[in-house]
Amino acid sequence: MTHFPIPIPDPITSAANAEVKSLRALHERKYRKKSGWFLAEGARICREAVALGWDMHRLAFLAGRENDAVMRPLLGGLAASGGRALPMTETLMQRISRKDNPQILIGAFGQRWHDLQVVSSTSDRIWVALDRVRDPGNLGAVMRTADAVGAAGIILIGDCTDPYSVEAVRASMGAVFNVEIIACSEAEFIAFGTAWPGRVVGTALPAAVDYRGADYCGPLIMLMGNEQAGLTAPLMDMCDQLIKIPMQGRSDSLNLAVATGVALYTALDRRG
Ligand SMILES: C[S@@+](CC[C@H](N)C(=O)[O-])C[C@H]1O[C@@H](n2cnc3c(N)ncnc32)[C@H](O)[C@@H]1O
Repeated sequence: MTHFPIPIPDPITSAANAEVKSLRALHERKYRKKSGWFLAEGARICREAVALGWDMHRLAFLAGRENDAVMRPLLGGLAASGGRALPMTETLMQRISRKDNPQILIGAFGQRWHDLQVVSSTSDRIWVALDRVRDPGNLGAVMRTADAVGAAGIILIGDCTDPYSVEAVRASMGAVFNVEIIACSEAEFIAFGTAWPGRVVGTALPAAVDYRGADYCGPLIMLMGNEQAGLTAPLMDMCDQLIKIPMQGRSDSLNLAVATGVALYTALDRRG
């Protein structure tokens, strides 16, 4: 294939550069909120994000790698969408990623948030709702698992960790680009879920029903509790069914992401 030259600016070498500073600031939640941007690292993930239609606003990469096979389509897409290419030194890539061994490229993308109305009552797809999830690694792993089972997206209830933090995006391994993300209060979720004609299945240690015997048919929201406190009483009350995964041994609960995986794959299996 013939490649037309893509104009590449001179490499950035100073940590005082405004672009470097603003990309680095995306590690902080308040700057992500202010800008509406977030960082995603690595060629595969950035390429898939662009292929899925996400806007890449900045592409920071190791100077000298602009002719790599992985770089050229990204640079072409970036130029077409009005984004900026930012070649720079490895030290500056380390500053932006805050890692000693950064990937050769880091993209800055625009965040996408939805409201509860996108949870269609006619769709047969599964949603995962998380009550006050606190750990970005758990949230990333849940997004990855939700994507793996073909779930539509994640509903974040109450005060949750940011799905667009660098840690959550890293743990999601790119799934953040393929699941819809909704944020709402507990009251909004309860009002919505109570009127919604689909099933809300909650997972909770005090539940009476074994997860293997539950009904997962039709539109489904799988509701998961906070890492320390589990589900609140009002959330448990609004569920159509509460399920437990029996525990043997000495641990009192499963890790949130592991429990989500067990519940989602069981639901998928039972739905046929
Ligand atoms: C680490 S657990 C929370 C433990 C918390 N101490 C409690 O009492 O619920 C986080 C979430 O994972 C799910 N979970 C973990 N183990 C489970 C199990 N054995 N059965 C059902 N849900 C479970 C629940 O949604 C739970 O709220």
